[in-house]
Amino acid sequence: MSILVTGGTGFIGSHTCVELLEAGYDLVVFDNFSNSKPSVIDKIADISGRGFKFYHTDMNDKNALKRIFADNQIECVIHFAGYKAVGESVEKPLMYYQNNITGTLNLLEAMTDAGVKKIVFSSSATVYGVPRKVPITEDEPLSVTNPYGRTKLMIEDILRDLYVSDDSWSIIMLRYFNPVGGHESGLLCEDPNGIPNNLMPRILDTVFGKQEKMQVFGNDYPTVDGTGVRDYIHVQDLAKGHVKAVERLMRVNEIQAINLGTGRGYSVLELIKTFEQVNNVSIPVEFSPRRPGDVAECFADTKKAYDLLGWKAELGVSEMCRDSYKARLMLMQGSDNA
Ligand code: WQD
Repeated sequence: MSILVTGGTGFIGSHTCVELLEAGYDLVVFDNFSNSKPSVIDKIADISGRGFKFYHTDMNDKNALKRIFADNQIECVIHFAGYKAVGESVEKPLMYYQNNITGTLNLLEAMTDAGVKKIVFSSSATVYGVPRKVPITEDEPLSVTNPYGRTKLMIEDILRDLYVSDDSWSIIMLRYFNPVGGHESGLLCEDPNGIPNNLMPRILDTVFGKQEKMQVFGNDYPTVDGTGVRDYIHVQDLAKGHVKAVERLMRVNEIQAINLGTGRGYSVLELIKTFEQVNNVSIPVEFSPRRPGDVAECFADTKKAYDLLGWKAELGVSEMCRDSYKARLMLMQGSDNA
């Protein structure tokens, strides 16, 4: 029996594949490389010392999905595949709905036809919108402010409706806070195609000379130092959380939304300062106006993840900054040697 990982060469998908292989699971992976590279396949195998079946395909190819389920004994699906840039989703909403919603419906139909009813879904803290209070618990009201976030909430609603129609499904929706870092080996990291939006890739672009200085979006928020506060979580901790979710799915028929965060918020300036100290670099900053859609503070209540999954984040921001830097450095050295 295998686990199907959709979007398995992406940032979080690739780290999760490593953890699943190291935990002894057999994997079938597909990706369309819209935000990742084929070279990640070998890196996953090199780190874990294990191979896996890979399909270069798209979740909007219904026949390809049908073949994957026909050719493999799939027991459970972890669904990462989807576009995830907030700004791009505002410019191209139809592309986001077509890919993320229709693609997910294709996947769920293929699963149903194959009798596969266990899924871990890659959701996001973005479904909380502007939180009423922090730390954020899973029963907080859900509201979204952009098409990307709306696709995540819509897919959660689709899964909730699916479970009401057939409670033989086992569904866990993992709401990620802010994933950062890279694999301790330095072989895997966040390597987005195109211009990154998120804080850590922008810090790395500044350190490695792709941009002159860090734009800090807003320093007038009601926070410790006026800059945005987020719950940064090491991608390896996040990946381990998925293994725990799979273990639970094998035991329990239910639908659950579970936060994956550290429960600790750090401001933009605190993260930049930590990055400078850990990696002995200097990062010039410039303050800019607030970014539309940003919230002041967002960090997780992590009790449910511990109670239901027996999981909690182990790595802190120092390791996140260390591993982000090391992985980007190795990526650049690798591209220089290519
Ligand atoms: C973090 C903080 C910015 C860049 C987004 C998505 C969320 C999830 C994670 C997918 C904020 C500040 C950023 C920069 C800055 N993605 N910042 N200068 O917006 O919390 O969450 O990514 O699931 O769904 O919404 O993350 O890294 O973009 O921003 O000052 O150049 O860094 O204002 O306070 P965000 P982020």
